[in-house]
Amino acid sequence: MKIIIANWKMNVGVRESVALARGTLLTLRGRKLIPELVICPPFVALSEVRKVVARSAVALGAQNVSWAESGSYTGEISARMLQELGVTHAIIGHSERRSLLHETDEMVNKKVLHALASQLTPIVCVGETRQERQAGKTHEVVGQQLKAALLDVRLRVTDRLLIAYEPLSAIGSGEAASVPEIVETHTFIRSLLREFFGERVASAMQILYGGSVDGENAYGFLREQQVDGVLVGGGSVKINQFKDIVHAACEVLEAQQKV
Ligand code: PGA
Repeated sequence: MKIIIANWKMNVGVRESVALARGTLLTLRGRKLIPELVICPPFVALSEVRKVVARSAVALGAQNVSWAESGSYTGEISARMLQELGVTHAIIGHSERRSLLHETDEMVNKKVLHALASQLTPIVCVGETRQERQAGKTHEVVGQQLKAALLDVRLRVTDRLLIAYEPLSAIGSGEAASVPEIVETHTFIRSLLREFFGERVASAMQILYGGSVDGENAYGFLREQQVDGVLVGGGSVKINQFKDIVHAACEVLEAQQKV
């Protein structure tokens, strides 16, 4: 199975989100084999978007979640509040939150633990900067982020936790990472997950690529066995672009079925 996560960021209001959700549903029309689809609208649009995707194959995700259950956390949103709105997934540790809002590895870890305890599926984002890659530090940086994010995490085979590898230079830049770079890093991430959780759990976990995924490059990423899916930002709020990405995933699934 392949999975596509749409991260709408702070790019659409409630009305646009509803229209985009309708458009997203239409991308699946007429396709027999479809990827798993999770859309992550801004918080304020969740309840309206929920009405659109109810009883469809599209799941709802949040772009962030608090580590606390409730209390004096002005401006924060808890896992339980999200679940009340039908949310099943939460993006955690996105690089924009790490860099712009100073979210630390420790905060990311607390959020992951709380999300799992609340039966929300975490989508944990990791990724190195261009300078770190050029200095040959990708494994060191990504390894450190993963180790910190997954500290004290215990997973059973039935628990879900997704990893999104998003090199910072690729996010919103139009310069996606190359397929060999992605495959190599995903293989490294999988080996770490094996170390942390053992073969059975690690082999069931999904590792996604994110960063300037568009209608043209999506097929090339998704056809790789090491790429379980894509996390799409800019390309997910332009419905024609997103349609091409979804169709690329459908075509990969169809091609795999023939083998
Ligand atoms: P992008 O964003 O697709 O616009 O590069 C990806 C992300 O930030 O998750």
